[in-house]
Amino acid sequence: MADTAADPSAIDLSALESELLNDVAKAMDLGALDAVRVSALGKKGRISELMAKLGAMPADQRKAFGQAVNNVKAAVSEALDQKKATLEVAALAARLANEHSDITLPVRVGPEAQGRIHPVSQVLDECIEIFADMGFKVAEGPDIESDDYNFTKLNIPAEHPARQEHDTFYLKTKPGSNAAPLVLRTHTSPVQIRTMLGQKPPIRIIAPGRVYRCDSDQTHTPMFHQIEGLVIDETTHMGHLKWVLEEMCKAFFEVDTVTMRFRASHFPFTEPSMEIDIDKGALGKPGEWLEIGGCGMVHPNVLRNCGLDPETYQGFAFGMGLDRMAMLKYGIPDLRPFFAGDLKWLRHYGFSILDQPTLGGGLSS
Ligand code: DAH
Repeated sequence: MADTAADPSAIDLSALESELLNDVAKAMDLGALDAVRVSALGKKGRISELMAKLGAMPADQRKAFGQAVNNVKAAVSEALDQKKATLEVAALAARLANEHSDITLPVRVGPEAQGRIHPVSQVLDECIEIFADMGFKVAEGPDIESDDYNFTKLNIPAEHPARQEHDTFYLKTKPGSNAAPLVLRTHTSPVQIRTMLGQKPPIRIIAPGRVYRCDSDQTHTPMFHQIEGLVIDETTHMGHLKWVLEEMCKAFFEVDTVTMRFRASHFPFTEPSMEIDIDKGALGKPGEWLEIGGCGMVHPNVLRNCGLDPETYQGFAFGMGLDRMAMLKYGIPDLRPFFAGDLKWLRHYGFSILDQPTLGGGLSS
């Protein structure tokens, strides 16, 4: 066997060439190809090592052997270059295929398009828009209210039968205290009291909010929503009350005419008092009356309880059920799912957040 370490000329260069060319051919990616390049042409590569030994060869052999090694080197280098070019094209094609994206696909829907406004919020925004246009401000009061504001100052003294009708939730009092227990407000009317105590007439407010009664069936839930209205000045009369409510109903139901009926009734805080009915014709069912709330001229006792002289001041008040108005306008049959947090229901009955109700652009669209 030839001693190649001692005599490099004994090495079979054509076998080495075909071995290296074969390695080049077998390299399947750029990484493997580079490993072949290092093993052949790198500092310690097989061709480089043969070149390094040239100096130690006898002069007569050096030239021919050097030439032959160079030929192998040139052949392997060319094969490496060609293969590299081929693999690069393939790698680019693979990337293009992998990173391809179909820009004709529909845009992914963002949270602002998926979220829904609850029908109660929608109806509330609609009412605020309508009343603001008539010059009303929005007033607020707490959900936990004093017995005095929820009842007494509204001309519903202790032992008054109207208290029973309200199915009130009373809060626990501190042991030993004989103060009247606080209540979860049973209506938004106490905001009338807060407003009259807090500011001078003329007053023109609406007060939307949550109210609570211990009652539950298909049309009653222990918590629901009302919208209260109050106008106090020196000249306001029942004609104004009727006009405001009629304009409100036309705007709310988005119709040109609405038939309304004011039915004599009784509320302790108004005199006279009326129940507000609308003819369901506005909703495509003429001849059917539907009660949407109560109203009346503010009772002199209520004015007095708030430090206003009924000889000088007068005005009207009204209260309507917001949930009921939402059910009516949007054809929602059952009240209970309003408060069940069911996404399927909300997606069905809810409104787009991008669709703000405005009188100019349309309340609902
Ligand atoms: N507070 C009444 C209720 O909850 C509704 C109501 C009736 C409010 C007549 C008013 C009114 O302001 O004038 O049943």
